[in-house]
Amino acid sequence: MEKPNSIAPPRGKLGVLLPGMGAVATTFIAGVELVRQKQAVPVGSLTQMGTIRLGKRTDGRSPKIKDFVKLAKLEDMVFGGWDIFPESAYEAAAKAGVLDAHHLAAVKTFLSKIKPMPAAFDHEYVKMLNGKHVKNGKNKYDIALQVKDDIAKFKKKHGCSRLVMLWCGSTEVFMKQHEVHETAESFEKAMKENHPAIAPSMLYAWAAITSGIAYGNGAPNLTVDIPALQELAQKHNVPIGGKDFKTGQTLLKTVLAPAFKARMLGLNGWFSTNILGNRDGEVLEDPGSFKTKEESKLGALEFILQPHLYPELYKKIHHKVRINYYPPRGDNKEGWDNIDIFGWLGYPMQIKVDFLCRDSILAAPIVLDLVLFLDLAQRAGLRGIQEWLSFYFKSPMTAPQLYPEHDLFIQSMKLKNTLRWLQGEDLITHLGQEYYD
Ligand SMILES: NC(=O)c1ccc[n+]([C@@H]2O[C@H](COP(=O)([O-])OP(=O)(O)OC[C@H]3O[C@@H](n4cnc5c(N)ncnc54)[C@H](O)[C@@H]3O)[C@@H](O)[C@H]2O)c1
Repeated sequence: MEKPNSIAPPRGKLGVLLPGMGAVATTFIAGVELVRQKQAVPVGSLTQMGTIRLGKRTDGRSPKIKDFVKLAKLEDMVFGGWDIFPESAYEAAAKAGVLDAHHLAAVKTFLSKIKPMPAAFDHEYVKMLNGKHVKNGKNKYDIALQVKDDIAKFKKKHGCSRLVMLWCGSTEVFMKQHEVHETAESFEKAMKENHPAIAPSMLYAWAAITSGIAYGNGAPNLTVDIPALQELAQKHNVPIGGKDFKTGQTLLKTVLAPAFKARMLGLNGWFSTNILGNRDGEVLEDPGSFKTKEESKLGALEFILQPHLYPELYKKIHHKVRINYYPPRGDNKEGWDNIDIFGWLGYPMQIKVDFLCRDSILAAPIVLDLVLFLDLAQRAGLRGIQEWLSFYFKSPMTAPQLYPEHDLFIQSMKLKNTLRWLQGEDLITHLGQEYYD
């Protein structure tokens, strides 16, 4: 793709539309408002806190990313979304139990005004949930048109100049690409025929893309990972990205595995288990939804370690991922990893990682960065899959002929080089021979 000549400045309001207003979405919205009120610091957000080195190491140029590329300001963001439960963002945040009482109190008035629109939902795709705040229509196409109408009304009501949609809804049952996903026409026909290969998340994505709105996928759902929606994204000049926020265990996996490979240390097995008690954990109790998550979590190691290139080191890896719903923990997930590695002459060693994390606290800054970067991509005229946003995803989307890049540091370099490229700066290679001439 050619470098865009110019990037339209972020004038006016940016509408952020979130299908699924549960723990992650409400922690994100509350956090943005707390930062705007100057009551908190946006820790974990690269767009807000990160810098980018430009030119040579001796040049001393390291502006903040948000000053280097023109990103929308937090003050210009307005929020909306859909959920199968009618509770306001305040009630949903209180129920999610992520934020302390003093934070909740500070944003109560703001969050109470954000009420979800009725969802495009079907219990067949998220078996553990039942909600009454849902749309009715004569077929899936009709429901997708209602989502389009919601988008248009939201845009008008809030006077938005641009919108971004980011899926923060539940993990749907495992789905494989079907022939109805092949073209925009077959997809539309399938919506009209209520075909089971069309999941609710796809209706939102179709509505967003055909309305000219960027779509990001925070769950491991198939959604935009299909040719029909990618074709439409090209046609409507819409950036898309996914899938599944890379937050806790996989974040660490994609830091540790590249280190083993870089040092040519072998791996016999990696056992990952999770204990969590939020609604996401409850949804993942259903084997269909768990399978979707499991596939997403399993991919990283294989792609990073490349066993076909290093058979003596990585050919026989036992990689297991377990998720256990355990209500007392709420959103405070415990991710345990037992890693069996081997070194010089094959001698075995073990590493244990016990990450006592907070799921939505890790996810919220990712939501913020994705919203801002997808908006930037759209203003820059980038369309289709945004591989440079792989940094944020467990299962990064790529062009069909490529394997996904999972190594966090390669992803970070790719992201920053993309920003340099967009702004016409030299790319950084880390060669540095010129200092020794
Ligand atoms: N928190 C993390 O660290 C993390 C990491 C990676 C991915 N995710 C994914 O992000 C998503 C959100 O996580 P969460 O902890 O906020 O879950 P959550 O259960 O608190 O919120 C999801 C919300 O989506 C709603 N929903 C389900 N189907 C919907 C539909 N068709 N339309 C509108 N709303 C719908 C549910 O009612 C629920 O309120 C999940 O899919 C999760 O797997 C989270």
